[in-house]
Amino acid sequence: MCATPTASSDEAPALKVQGLSKRFNGAASPVWSDISFEVPHGQRLAIIGGNGAGKSTLLRCCMRLIDAEEGDIHFSGCCVSTLKGRALSKARSRVGFVFQKHNLVPRLSVLTNVLHGGMAHCNNPQLWYQGWASQRQREDALACLDQVGLAHLARQRTDELSGGQSQRVAIARALMQQPEMIFADEPVASLDPQAGEDVMQVFSDLAQHKGLTFVFVTHHLEHAVHYADRVIGLQAGKLALDEPASALDVQQLRSMYG
Ligand SMILES: Nc1ncnc2c1ncn2[C@@H]1O[C@H](COP(=O)(O)OP(=O)(O)OP(=O)(O)O)[C@@H](O)[C@H]1O
Ligand SMILES: [Mg+2]
Repeated sequence: MCATPTASSDEAPALKVQGLSKRFNGAASPVWSDISFEVPHGQRLAIIGGNGAGKSTLLRCCMRLIDAEEGDIHFSGCCVSTLKGRALSKARSRVGFVFQKHNLVPRLSVLTNVLHGGMAHCNNPQLWYQGWASQRQREDALACLDQVGLAHLARQRTDELSGGQSQRVAIARALMQQPEMIFADEPVASLDPQAGEDVMQVFSDLAQHKGLTFVFVTHHLEHAVHYADRVIGLQAGKLALDEPASALDVQQLRSMYG
């Protein structure tokens, strides 16, 4: 583990994973070991692998939501492996996390849910409810909604939205924390095919036009090939694939599921 946290640098990759290994308490073998890869700023990286291969565990370790046994994680050259308390929260706020389930607060408006994303930086009570927020905070939240094409639904309650719209609001909420990276764990798994494509396009546009680094887990091999610049695959506890998406097709990726 890196002994002292280092400062961020623009030249360093957005994410660097170095010699990472993870074993859960009581498990006979590690989920995976000796995982190393770097993600340049603005890259779209897909992570694939069978059920239980450890994709979610890898994303969670990269966010330090759980700790790896060995290895280091760097965000833009800053080692985050040993950070604790406020320094760890600050590092985590650089990453927006989008889950399979959007976890929006149902009875509140879209705008209020997006404002909640700002609490990654400070637990300001003004951000709890849109009526308490400042004009500037509301404008920022609206700008985030605009980026996912939903500014017109700002006043709507989130329990009145479709699955695809809800997931876009979850992306806007992540954008509200002004992240450098977005990690998404099967973000379109519960959406219909068209809504899934639409949401993947939103992520992809954010990476390509706003320079956000986008790391996503998917079982949709077409999405891995189409919406990623690069695909890595976990198999039998190892990093078994690391290729540019342009060099891959769905048929080749199916070999990861044997
Ligand atoms: N909190 C935990 N405690 C113990 N074992 C765990 C825990 N979380 C995950 N595991 C185990 O780690 C392994 C990897 O799980 P993980 O959820 O990362 O897989 P995955 O690749 O995301 O699978 P899926 O495609 O089904 O989402 C599995 O064997 C799982 O049972
Ligand atoms: Mg998973």
